[in-house]
Amino acid sequence: PQSLKLAVIPGDGIGPEVTAEGLKVLEQATPADVKFEPTRYDLGAERYLATGEVLPDSVLEEIRQHDAILLGAVGGKPNDPNLPPGILERGLLLRLRFELDHYVNLRPSRIFPGSISPLADPGEVDFVVVREGTEGPYTGNGGALRVGTPHEVATEVSVNTAFGVERVVRDAFARAQKRPRKKLTLVHKTNVLVHAGSVWWRIFEEVAREFPEVTTDYMHVDATMIHLTTNPSRFDVIVTDNLFGDIVTDLAAAVTGGIGLAASGNVNPDRTAPSMFEPVHGSAPDIAGQQVADPTAAILSVALMLDHLGLDDAARRIEDAVVADLAERDPATKRSTAEVGDAIAARVAGS
Ligand code: NAD
Ligand code: IPM
Ligand code: MN
Repeated sequence: PQSLKLAVIPGDGIGPEVTAEGLKVLEQATPADVKFEPTRYDLGAERYLATGEVLPDSVLEEIRQHDAILLGAVGGKPNDPNLPPGILERGLLLRLRFELDHYVNLRPSRIFPGSISPLADPGEVDFVVVREGTEGPYTGNGGALRVGTPHEVATEVSVNTAFGVERVVRDAFARAQKRPRKKLTLVHKTNVLVHAGSVWWRIFEEVAREFPEVTTDYMHVDATMIHLTTNPSRFDVIVTDNLFGDIVTDLAAAVTGGIGLAASGNVNPDRTAPSMFEPVHGSAPDIAGQQVADPTAAILSVALMLDHLGLDDAARRIEDAVVADLAERDPATKRSTAEVGDAIAARVAGS
């Protein structure tokens, strides 16, 4: 059988709880001629607090040798004096995205037949956000002067290279081209962020000429918040920068059934390093350890991983099982994280 090496980083808070369910479902979905060999990495808050290690270089190089990465979530308890903000987010999660060149952060949003949208009449919603994953304000380019004084100055400079923008815009066009509606919306703030905006806009227009079948439009990010809540069905593919994409996808998750359903892939389309799949949500310290987190986002992230690895049938079986489970969810009946995982795994096994 084909053997695939899977790096598993359960992480912090609800990360380990939802990852366990993702792996449970993966086991049932794996085709007979494929074998996943998982390696578990105990990276996250606990290891940092015990050893000071966030992501040792040797561990990064080991992870690099895998075919894919499954991540739960990272982030410790809020305001822990021993855990400075950003240590894990930047040092672990963003370092993986940057080092492994995950320039396409793929975040699909769909209202499934059983999803409960807070919108009264959302219509048919099925869009995907292609969020840039390696640049923007996330690069750590900035600093602070006169810290702690009334004259403190802090900068966080957004990095937008023609190379980085073009590769993600091209990927978004190619995805739009393959979808029935073939529509791509650039989301930015070109009316204010004129330097970054002009490189995004120019490259978007240039690449558009290579995809004449794709209908394009542009929307400022603030107005995007309006349209996402009043008429989300208008979107097909959205391409945007790293920070706007972060914000847009939490709202997209909320309007399409909740953060507990939102899956993502940090994709290296050139396959020079493993791609990484994870829920859009974080470690949710407010509900960690209680077996109440919804593992569906982690389970759908496994489906995105299977798609990426070319195991499309297995991915569809998971999605179908999730859709069937959602259709029978009753908000009055509370199930534990493991019960939801068991139910979806059983459906996959029976399909
Ligand atoms: P969060 O996504 O962890 O939680 C936001 C809200 O959504 C909370 O009320 C939480 O209980 C709820 N929620 C999240 N996932 C859920 C699930 N599966 N089922 C039910 N409810 C769920 O965001 P936050 O509170 O802003 O961040 C908490 C920590 O996670 C921070 O340290 C942050 O940096 C980190 N974070 C990590 C990732 C990641 O690893 N990819 C993503 C986002 C945030
Ligand atoms: C996400 C998270 C991360 C991001 C943080 C934790 C670095 O919010 O995956 O959406 O901003 O990308
Ligand atoms: Mn986020």
